[in-house]
Amino acid sequence: MNFCIKTSCCALGILFSQCIHATPTMFSDVINPSSNQNLSKHDWRNRSRSMDKFIDDLLGKMTLDEKIGQLDLQSGYRGVTGPFVNAAYEQQIRNGNVGAIFNAYGAEFGKRLQTIAVEQTRLGIPIIIGHDVIHGHKTIFPQSIGEAASWDLEAIQLSAKIAAKEASADGIMWSFAPMADIVRDPRWGRVSESAGEDPLLTSAISVARVKGFQGEDISRDDTIMATAKHFVGYGASQAGRDYNSTDISEHRLWSLYLPPFKAMLDAGVTTFMTGFNDLNGTPVTGNRYLLKDVLRDKWGFKGFVVTDYTAVNELVAHGYAKDEKHAAQLAFNGGADMDMVGQTYLKYLKPLIEEKKVSEARLNDAVRRVLEMKWRLGLFADPYRYHDDKRAAKRILTKENLAAATDMARRSMVLLKNHNQPLPIDTKKINSIALIGPLADNRYDMIGNWAGAGDRGAQPVTVKEGLESILGDDVTIRYAKGATHSYLLSHTGMSSLMGIDVPVSGQTKEDLQSDIDEALQIAKTSDVVVMVLGEDQRMSGEASSRTELTLPGNQQALMEALRSLNKPLILVVMSGRPNDLRWADSNVDAILQAWYPGTMGGQAVADVLMGKYNPAGKLPMTFPRSVGQVPLFYNHKNTGRPIGSANPSHTPVEYTSRYDDSLNSPLYAFGHGLSYTQFEYGPPTLSSEKLTLKGELTLTVKVTNVGDRKGEEVIQLYTHQKVGSITRPVKELKGFQKLEFAPGETKNVKFTLTPADLAFFRADMTWGIEPGEFDVMVGGASNQVQALTFTLTD
Ligand code: BGC
Repeated sequence: MNFCIKTSCCALGILFSQCIHATPTMFSDVINPSSNQNLSKHDWRNRSRSMDKFIDDLLGKMTLDEKIGQLDLQSGYRGVTGPFVNAAYEQQIRNGNVGAIFNAYGAEFGKRLQTIAVEQTRLGIPIIIGHDVIHGHKTIFPQSIGEAASWDLEAIQLSAKIAAKEASADGIMWSFAPMADIVRDPRWGRVSESAGEDPLLTSAISVARVKGFQGEDISRDDTIMATAKHFVGYGASQAGRDYNSTDISEHRLWSLYLPPFKAMLDAGVTTFMTGFNDLNGTPVTGNRYLLKDVLRDKWGFKGFVVTDYTAVNELVAHGYAKDEKHAAQLAFNGGADMDMVGQTYLKYLKPLIEEKKVSEARLNDAVRRVLEMKWRLGLFADPYRYHDDKRAAKRILTKENLAAATDMARRSMVLLKNHNQPLPIDTKKINSIALIGPLADNRYDMIGNWAGAGDRGAQPVTVKEGLESILGDDVTIRYAKGATHSYLLSHTGMSSLMGIDVPVSGQTKEDLQSDIDEALQIAKTSDVVVMVLGEDQRMSGEASSRTELTLPGNQQALMEALRSLNKPLILVVMSGRPNDLRWADSNVDAILQAWYPGTMGGQAVADVLMGKYNPAGKLPMTFPRSVGQVPLFYNHKNTGRPIGSANPSHTPVEYTSRYDDSLNSPLYAFGHGLSYTQFEYGPPTLSSEKLTLKGELTLTVKVTNVGDRKGEEVIQLYTHQKVGSITRPVKELKGFQKLEFAPGETKNVKFTLTPADLAFFRADMTWGIEPGEFDVMVGGASNQVQALTFTLTD
């Protein structure tokens, strides 16, 4: 099969440094004895210096129990994301029952655990320490979907590199990221962890993250292993409800869900994580076709596969295994090497081997994969290489890291609307700003979800502080909370959920009204009203699905009250998903989507509001008008009765594919995002009307910054094959370039297309091209393009 990610991305002009390339040597295969200052009683230097011989030797010495122990991943006490299974993990390490541990960061703490593994077990095999290092470690960068909105691969790679630098100084050597699940349903809380709905963009971003985490060599003390998760299809959880089943056709699986994983594999990702989902009737954690036939045999993956949290045990609840022993058998034989938290391998692999239901060869294969990664991390050369307690002070929350987090946060912001340019706020025209909203002076939510090691107390900079630092005494800032960002107690069904950890406001009707009244008071006496609204960070992330996409609590009432004042009204939205912003789109003057912007988020928001930074983010995920349109995505099929084709003599409009009560189109399309300057696109041209099998085609378009500010634009290229053995999406992203333009500057932007870029998963279940006619489209958003046509010839 032919994946064309590398070819297409480079060919299509993503800046050279941002291209997806497989890293030639991600690992060093030779131990460097000079780096070893801190040997344990097991002097590995006396062993063979070749990895294969070393592991053969070690495997030969290991008992069955010791081998099985290497396949167990346990959780420490620093955070839980599921059932807490084992509090006695230190004893388990001592017993040789632990190959890796997570939720156990901190150089000192890690050293304590590593010392047990190295000094107090028979063979002294070091453990791997992992963590969910998702968007930063202690310096928290924007939530992953926000980073994706930057379409800036260099900045995203840098964010992962800094996360690795900090995490590795804190005893961590393995990140459970990137999450490359394609998402189409904003009800699913985990869209916040994703790179959005498009396979090409998700592939490019995931590869940038893998490179950032792993660098050129995972044995360096400032790089960590990455995890391609969740393999695969978890993003298609039905009805957007987390952990729900998925049903994905073979074609959709290969065209949409698998490509980002193949791209990460080609870039050298060291581990894969399975998902929780039942896929077409076979839960992915026990899915031999995916884990063995595809990942191992077809793609040649050399690293190890870890399950998701207790996902093996859950094969029983899925109705796929009759008990946990059967579950362990299915998952392990299926190809899942390491069991996260559930301890089914610990309990059942030995009897399963004795009963010959699992082969020793399979066991040795899994253990070898884990030991290889330990070698490649350099742990056999120096098991304490990640536990230097002086490193953290030098590497964590440094000025440079915070500056990079500010930069990334600014790049993540998407200006959705700016009617009559109320933004940037012009300090020459105003004396006061009313800053209103539960997220305007809120440190806790600023860093979003999956920021386990991040500080939610003193560290994050709020929007209020950001504005104060820019405005000083020149402009008066009046602040009021105004509303809640949690569910109201009266929210349908919510009171019955009170036993569950959902964000519930707990305020009375009177409290809520008095918050609105206070906001109205300060707004009345101010020149501009800036509302910072959105969701409690706990409303997105794992186990955080919603049935509504509206702004929660009494925020709608607050917005309506403030609108009645007829002041310039600006809305900043902090959330981890596309929200229903219909009312805001019709009633407020400007909308900035700020996601959860991270430790430096408030500074970045203030920089954008005040024009110290010109926003350039573009949506990586469609914003629907209402939850009723979900799933809504740009790369959909045309249908037999597309709405645009209405023709009274042939197909009356009411019998086309449409809603009676809504437009089909989104509120904000994939790729949409405004700037404080304006870009004009000239008519595109093609180097030829024909593309031959060995040829290439260049599309050129003149883009001009016609405004008076410097700005960046993401120029997007899409294609559409008119006829295929499998019907083709109306548009598919094939390339993008993010370029900076001085005021008045024009650039001739070129994209090169080759036949490989046009390949797809055909009716005969193979990747390849089909000659025929294509539209090629270029523009600044998926719904703002100019089209040309060409023919792909035999
Ligand atoms: C999540 C994974 C995560 C793991 C460890 C699970 O609940 O699905 O994405 O890496 O927990 O925290």
